[in-house]
Amino acid sequence: MSQHILGVDVGGSGIKGSLVDVQTGALVGSRIRVDTPAPANPSVIAEAFAGLIKKIGYSGPIGCGFPAIVQHGVAKSAANIDKSWIGHNIEEEFSAACGNPVKALNDADAAGLAELTFGQGKDVPGVVLLITIGTGLGTAQFVDGTLVPNTEFGHLYLHGRIAEHYCSNRIREEENLSWKDWASRFSEYLRHLERLLTPDLFILGGGVSKEFKDFGHLLKVNTPVKPAKLLNSAGIVGAAVYAGK
Ligand code: BGC
Repeated sequence: MSQHILGVDVGGSGIKGSLVDVQTGALVGSRIRVDTPAPANPSVIAEAFAGLIKKIGYSGPIGCGFPAIVQHGVAKSAANIDKSWIGHNIEEEFSAACGNPVKALNDADAAGLAELTFGQGKDVPGVVLLITIGTGLGTAQFVDGTLVPNTEFGHLYLHGRIAEHYCSNRIREEENLSWKDWASRFSEYLRHLERLLTPDLFILGGGVSKEFKDFGHLLKVNTPVKPAKLLNSAGIVGAAVYAGK
C-alpha cells in the first residue's frame, strides 16, 4: 500500500483533507477545505465529502475522522452534528459518494492516534488521555499505546452540566471567560478525569492547543499536561494512519 494516504476531518464548520505520509506523519501538499453544508444530514455531507475528494484529485484508501461515536463505521451519537446521522453507516455513505474505500473513526480518536504515533504520546507507556478542546470536548484514551475507542469523556457530568457545556472552547467564547476562569473550570474537569482514570499524561489538542502558552501555567492538576504537537492537523494525520492500518 502507498505510504501517502488521504486523511479527512469532518467538523461542524468545515471538512478538511490532505494527503499524509503515514510513515512520518507529515502533510503532503496543502490542506484543502470545503464548508460543511447545512443542514448537515448524511446525503448533503456525503456530497460535500465527494466534492473535497474531487478537488484534491485523489483515488485510493481514505481515512475519515467524524465528530460522533463511530462503531464499526456507524454513527451512534450526534451531540454537535445533525441528529439524522444516528444509525447511519458513515463508511458506506462516503465510499458510495466518492468511489473510494473510506474508513471512519471518532475525530478525537483520530487526533489521539496521530499524537501517539508521531507526537507527544509517542512511546509513552501507561494510560494517556488526549482531549480535543473545540465546540465540544473529544477524548481518546490509550493504554500502552492501544486505543480504547469512543470514550466520550466530554459527556461526563460536572456541576450538573455535561462537561463540554461547562468548559469547551465554545463555552469559553460564549461566556466570555478569561483564561484564568476558563482554566479553573478546565482544571476541575482534568482532576475529575484524574480521579476516574489515573492517567500518566494528558495531551490537549484542538484549535485552542496553540494558545497553550496563555493557559498551560494556570492548570492545576497533578498529572503532566502537554499541548498536542501536531496541533490542528492531528485529526487528518490520525485518520490517514487509521486507513493505512
Ligand atoms: C462528540 C464526540 C466528539 C467531540 C469532538 C463531542 O460532542 O460527542 O464524539 O469527539 O464532540 O468533536
